[in-house]
Amino acid sequence: MTPAERAAYLRQELERHNRLYHVLDAPEISDSEYDVLFRELQDLEAKHPELLTPDSPTLRVGAAPLAGFETARHSAPMLSLDNAFGEAELRQFAERVRKGLERDEVNYLCELKFDGLSLSLIYEDGVLARAVTRGDGSQGEVVTQNARTLIGVPLRLTEPISLEVRGEVLFFKEDFRKLNEERALKGEQVYVNPRNAASGSMRQLDSRITAQRRLRFFAYSVAGSPLAASQSAILARLGELGFAVHGGAKVVRGADGIVGFADEALVQRHSLPFEIDGVVIKVDAILDQNTLGMTARAPRWAIAAKFPAEQAMTLMHGIILNVGRTGVITPAADLEPVFVGGVTVSRATLHNFQDLALKDVRPGDTVIVQRAGDVIPQVVGPVLEKRVGDPPRFEPPTHCPVCESALVQVEGMVALKCPNRGCPAQTQAVLEHFVSRGAMDIEGLGEKQIARFLANGWLTDAPSIYELARLRGEIAALDGYGESSETKLLAAIEASKSRPLEKLIIALGIPLVGERTAKDLAHHFRTLDSLRTCQSDQLVEIPDIGPKTAVEVAAWFEDPDHQALIDRLLEVGVAPVESAAPKSDKFAGATFVFTGGLSLPRDQAEALVANLGGKSSDSVSKKTTYVVAGPGAGSKLAKAEALGVPVLTEEEFMALVDEEVK
Ligand code: IVH
Repeated sequence: MTPAERAAYLRQELERHNRLYHVLDAPEISDSEYDVLFRELQDLEAKHPELLTPDSPTLRVGAAPLAGFETARHSAPMLSLDNAFGEAELRQFAERVRKGLERDEVNYLCELKFDGLSLSLIYEDGVLARAVTRGDGSQGEVVTQNARTLIGVPLRLTEPISLEVRGEVLFFKEDFRKLNEERALKGEQVYVNPRNAASGSMRQLDSRITAQRRLRFFAYSVAGSPLAASQSAILARLGELGFAVHGGAKVVRGADGIVGFADEALVQRHSLPFEIDGVVIKVDAILDQNTLGMTARAPRWAIAAKFPAEQAMTLMHGIILNVGRTGVITPAADLEPVFVGGVTVSRATLHNFQDLALKDVRPGDTVIVQRAGDVIPQVVGPVLEKRVGDPPRFEPPTHCPVCESALVQVEGMVALKCPNRGCPAQTQAVLEHFVSRGAMDIEGLGEKQIARFLANGWLTDAPSIYELARLRGEIAALDGYGESSETKLLAAIEASKSRPLEKLIIALGIPLVGERTAKDLAHHFRTLDSLRTCQSDQLVEIPDIGPKTAVEVAAWFEDPDHQALIDRLLEVGVAPVESAAPKSDKFAGATFVFTGGLSLPRDQAEALVANLGGKSSDSVSKKTTYVVAGPGAGSKLAKAEALGVPVLTEEEFMALVDEEVK
């Protein structure tokens, strides 16, 4: 074999393995075997520079930096799409299409709307010749070297044809998180979202940097001759030619089909490895697309159904310091109210002072606020272009904003803490947690009432809540109260005395003990009496309780202050309901994970399992016995399938429960 033949063979093999690995997810060789072939080609090209071709996989690691990007005109404009917000507008679109085509029903291809940047790839005789960013739609920047580093872009197609493919460049969430982590460590400005990171990475003059970013490309259309008779067939064809095409696209019929797809995508949104900002609905048949044609700016045959934005820009008036239950001081942003992720937000967390310093957000800055799913709103970072002048950096406090004690840095942790256990702010936070719904659930005793009763000297600690009954009449006489609200409050306090043990455990606020651990502790010890004398070696024996948690729990109960607290609670009449012994042990040793939408409420499903001696968990692992999955199940279901954990439908689960009871 001549060096030229060997180089051609290696190029072909390496590209085949690239596709097997990244696109088909079915590698045939190990990473190190790949590296051996890759090195061989690199060496050959070093010895015989004339053998380096534009489709060589060695270019995937980047090439010599450019002085600047050239611009190029697109063969056909890269259009944008009209947007639809909400179901009604989607149905209107379907109606317009139906009328335009004079058809009863129309087939659509529904795709995810990738939140990245669009890119045009031009292939000549099967070889990637040029890549151009969208730019202003009619001309963009030539970023060919960078495009060669993208996962999902073939450097040579499986057939020697010429065509122009368009698609989206994406940063996967996990890669994005890692990149920002690295940047923060190096003191570099973090990117506000994966889209900005993808865009910044594609505009690197040094493609070796782009290569390290592990950007992905998903193809979604062709320019010019359409390749096939329908959008769904085009996607299939693009896959055959070597492109990564996302598997989530689906052919549906009519408006109901479209709306159903959009609803499903909204549920899946947070379990996908990349960000989407909606779905794109395309009339499937190319002939129908041609009949409908375009307006000046967008095709009539497609529409983007946009999801509510999860990031928004707003003014940060200042930084507020919160004192938590354990005295940890956390900074929060006081924001000009802004609508984001479906709600109006005026406060957002800034996590901790280290994070705040890295982001360098300053009072008066315009900031990006994010609220994704159920996650509490957070400040992502400042918008530096909008900073006015050079406001001073925010300095972390040295003293507690409430009791003025000198703050301490907890060893091995970034947190600043107020060491004063009697700090009124800590007491307020402890009490708010104690009465909260997931804990003792005392309705009528909220943030404001607690503050007022603390100021009156009526409350000092959790047990003092149960002495409020002595103040009957005095509470009623308060501004805004009356006899009936007093009666209600005292009844709620009385009722809370007999909450289940696990709720009292949560109320105690033991570090690292959340809902799940509280349940485990309650089921294991059954009574407060046996729990309060627990030892860490007993605790580690409880499945699902890790060594760290065991140490924290044991240490908490060893503290004489905490033992005194429990004594006082018992004195004032708190008598938690013992955790019931399981009715049977048919599920003993089995762990269930519930995911997706189930008609049975989650806590009832878990109670069924507990009654039969089994356990429930929030995360899937090899130790999981069954995953019970309802519609919309995402990453947990995928993990179960990957690990070979049996998956049950809700009906199958109920059948198992019934069968086990007998
Ligand atoms: S098709 C004429 N399909 O959304 C049709 N676009 O506002 C052109 N996008 O600039 C686009 N996912 O960057 C299409 N599955 C998808 C898409 C998608 C994301 C982006 C694309 C375009 C913008 C349209």
